Parts: sequence; structure tokens; C-alpha cells
Amino acid sequence: MSRPIILGIVGDSAAGKTTLTRGIAQVLGPENVTLICTDDYHRYDRTQRAEIGITALHPDCNHLDIMQQHLSLLRTGQPILKPVYSHKTGTFEPPQYIKPNKFVIIEGLLGYSTRAARDAYDVKVYLAPPEPVRAAWKIKRDTQKRGYTPEQVLAELEKREPDSEQYIRPQRQWSDIVVSFYPTKEEENETNGHLNVRLVLRPSIPHPDFTQITDSGNGDSQSAVRLGLGRDMGKPVDVLEVDGHATLEQVTKIEHIMCSDMPYLKNICDREINPELGKIAGTTGETLQSYPLALTQLIITYHMLKATQIYQ
Ligand code: G6P
Repeated sequence: MSRPIILGIVGDSAAGKTTLTRGIAQVLGPENVTLICTDDYHRYDRTQRAEIGITALHPDCNHLDIMQQHLSLLRTGQPILKPVYSHKTGTFEPPQYIKPNKFVIIEGLLGYSTRAARDAYDVKVYLAPPEPVRAAWKIKRDTQKRGYTPEQVLAELEKREPDSEQYIRPQRQWSDIVVSFYPTKEEENETNGHLNVRLVLRPSIPHPDFTQITDSGNGDSQSAVRLGLGRDMGKPVDVLEVDGHATLEQVTKIEHIMCSDMPYLKNICDREINPELGKIAGTTGETLQSYPLALTQLIITYHMLKATQIYQ
């Protein structure tokens, strides 16, 4: 059976969804990828939301039924007529006719909020940066790109907090991979520093055998690359951590583990990544360009390609 492979990237506002999405599209080849942002399924425009007193994070503020239906259509390779929300004007624009490419990446706030929507994805990622980091990213983005003042962004964050807690964060439990970029202790107040990444790998999909990392003497608590067991939302998980100061040798080792059973990924690595792995980050990824980001993109790409082997 041949059908598009669907990746979900879900997380709160300014959690880094677009940066990660663009980076993965870059690795897969933009011509192979259809990008969808579920903000387009907002039910009300910005003025209406203010009048009603509802935030964009609330399920009632989104056409989740239409989103869900469109996800099912895309999964079976069918086109959709997608609404368009403009972040610039806060209003809706004419809908777009979208035919899915080989890979479809769906990013947004509430992508895993219904059972039927969750069933549409092959790989589900949840982005969970520490809250102070997310706040800093949101202030930066919304002041630079969306015309808000820092005070307005902070007030908005506060207003949205109950909905974040009630509707956004619980979706973490449905993800196959939880991605948390975080600064090192010394760079805590730096949003441009070398970020580390913590990847929670749930057994809901088969991950590459990363135990070789520990076999080689790497992976102990001092190493810049660590693999361990943990719990996430009460459930047992594997945890892979990669620090921003990991060496090319350590990073290449992880890359090889994935490439050994994935020839196509090997091609990608040879062409795009070595010897400057960190340079493949997404176009807006200036705050994240690093080995941790590049490896995260690669691990997610690995799973997309695995799904291709099964379904295409
Ligand atoms: C947040 C989310 C967006 C969402 C927006 C709506 O910023 O990250 O994805 O669409 O809220 O708010 P707006 O600023 O457009 O009124």
C-alpha cells in the first residue's frame, strides 16, 4: 500500500515547532514534504477571540472535527481544501487546495487532542522546552515577527496558562518522542547559547538500538551523550541526552547506528550532514543550530523512513 507518511509535531506556542518542522523538511527534501500548520483550523479570528474571551489553545476555539477529517484524508493520499489563518493580520484568508506529498508534517497546538486525529499519524513528536525557555522564545518571536510588545506577550502567556495546563501539556502522553531543548546551567539566561537536548523515547514505536552508545564507554553520566532509563508521565521510557558540546565523533557514532539499517538515511547523511552536521538546521533555527538539533531531526527522519518501509 502506498500512502503519505504523516508526522505530528505538537507543543505549546513558541515551543520550537516550526524550527523543527522546517529542519526535518530540509533533511527529507522540501519537494517531498507537505507542511500543514493546524493554526489554520482556528474557529475565530483574533478580534472574535478577544470579544469572546477565549484563547487559541482552547479546543472550542478550533475546528478540531475538520482538522481530524483532513488528517484522515491526507493519510489516504487525498487532497484537502484547507482554511488559512494569517498570523500577520489575525484574520482568515481564502482556503488553499493541498495535495499531499510523500511526507506530510502537521505542526500545531492541539494535534493529538482527539483519538481519531492521533490515529492519523505514523510518528508523533511532542515539544517540551522548559517553560522559562519557551517564554523567552515566545517574547523573541512575537516581538520580532508578530508586532507585540514584551509586556503584551507576558500578559498573553499568563492568560493562556490554564489552557496550556488543561489542553496542551496532557498531549505529551500520546507522543512517541518528547523533545526538550534546554540551555546548560551556565547559559541559563541565554537563548542563543549551545542548547542540549533530552529525548524521551517511548516504546510505542521501535527505536534504533542506541545501547551501543553505552557499550563504547560513552553514555556514562559525565559523557556529552547519555542513554538511560526513565519514566515519563508515569510510564517507563528510554532517555537519550545529547549536550551542545558533544564532539563530532560522538555525534557520528549515533548517526552510524541509525544509518546501519537505513540505507536512504545514509545517503542523506553523506550528502547533507558530514562533515558539518550542525549546519543542516532549519532556516529559522538560528537559536538551535547545533548537533543536538541535527540529531533530533535525524532520529525523527529515521522513523519517517521506517514507516515508509512498512507502508510504501
Ligand atoms: C499563539 C500560537 C499560534 C496561534 C496564535 C493565535 O501565538 O503559537 O500558533 O495561532 O497564538 O494568536 P494571535 O497572536 O494570532 O492572535
